[in-house]
Amino acid sequence: MGIPYGKQQITQEDIDAVVEVLKSDFLTQGPKVKEFEERFAEYVGAKYAVAVTNGTAALHLCNMVLGTGPGDKVITTPITFAASANSVLYCGGEVDFVDIDPDTYSIDLDKLEEKLSSSPVGTYKGVIPVDLAGYPVDVEKLRRITDKYGLWIIEDACHAPGGYFTDSNGDKQLCGNGAYSDLQIFSFHPVKHIATGEGGMVTTNNEELYKKLLLFRTHGITKSPDMLIEDHGGWYYEMHELGYNYRISDLNCALGISQLNRAKEGVEKRNRIAVRYNEAFKELDTVKTPFVADDVYHAYHLYIIQAEQRKELYDFLREHDIFTQVHYIPVHLQPYYRNMGWKKGDFPAAEDYYEKALSLPMYPALTEEEQVFVIEKIKEFYS
Ligand SMILES: Cc1ncc(COP(=O)(O)O)c(C=O)c1O
Repeated sequence: MGIPYGKQQITQEDIDAVVEVLKSDFLTQGPKVKEFEERFAEYVGAKYAVAVTNGTAALHLCNMVLGTGPGDKVITTPITFAASANSVLYCGGEVDFVDIDPDTYSIDLDKLEEKLSSSPVGTYKGVIPVDLAGYPVDVEKLRRITDKYGLWIIEDACHAPGGYFTDSNGDKQLCGNGAYSDLQIFSFHPVKHIATGEGGMVTTNNEELYKKLLLFRTHGITKSPDMLIEDHGGWYYEMHELGYNYRISDLNCALGISQLNRAKEGVEKRNRIAVRYNEAFKELDTVKTPFVADDVYHAYHLYIIQAEQRKELYDFLREHDIFTQVHYIPVHLQPYYRNMGWKKGDFPAAEDYYEKALSLPMYPALTEEEQVFVIEKIKEFYS
């Protein structure tokens, strides 16, 4: 199948873990869900975790529990997967964008502050920053800004489990630990760090939001004695909110738990691959390698370069069975968003970034030979 930009790694332990669930009493709503939640919360350093069907459901749930509704404006970055923005629309809210920082490729926090300070108080309800490629957003700085203007934060950390930055107190802040954001979300799609087939997670340190997430994940239905208005007997439940079925199965969670055992090792491997790429491309003035600040540990879900003759390079690599990808086409330029009035020229840094962006193969199972092959072919293209 050639060399893709991202790929899962499944071991015998992973297979055994799923088979064990198949032979058990619970395929869903069983003990593996809670175990995965607890293990994941511990991994990213958060108090609570709620496992769901996928990252998009996680984003939708977050918007629901924060009360996004008609007329509410929420800001995100144009360089992300469409779901980060779409989740606001699902709830009837409006999406606005702030351009990216040309170094980190994530939302430009100075531009965000400019926008908030020049808008009437209360214009915006929240912000959804994205740890693009696995580069942690400085959520400490973001929190200082959002506190001034009364916005909540949903950190889209789909690319960043295992990544961290060091805050102004000198403390290591893992992506998704909730030290500065209200809610954080993750995806377990097979190209991500932890693969469960389909799957997602919300983490938070806020007990009230945690309880709401549990409620909205299962149709808004509760059996919790402290919430019931009436009590007719052991079978009795009540629906208090219009929730969804966003439950994940025990099969997915068993795979997730098994994958978590190798997650830290996987991020280390990704960092070693990044060092090799950085070293190899140092001599090419046609390739810009990812920026990494001193206080940041990159989770490298993606290794994104800025490449001259990007399309030609993409096609050349494809001819040699190297399947790179572009993350992302700016969301505001998608036809659906253009129909809302967004247009080319609205976010110049994001649009410039898109012209040259290319994600090279990056995953723990990428062999030494494959890494060398990718490097050789890129050098050959530019020679
Ligand atoms: C940044 C980002 N947000 C959200 C999602 C949505 O996750 P999922 O595909 O699990 O619904 C993805 C994954 O594709 C993503 O990369």
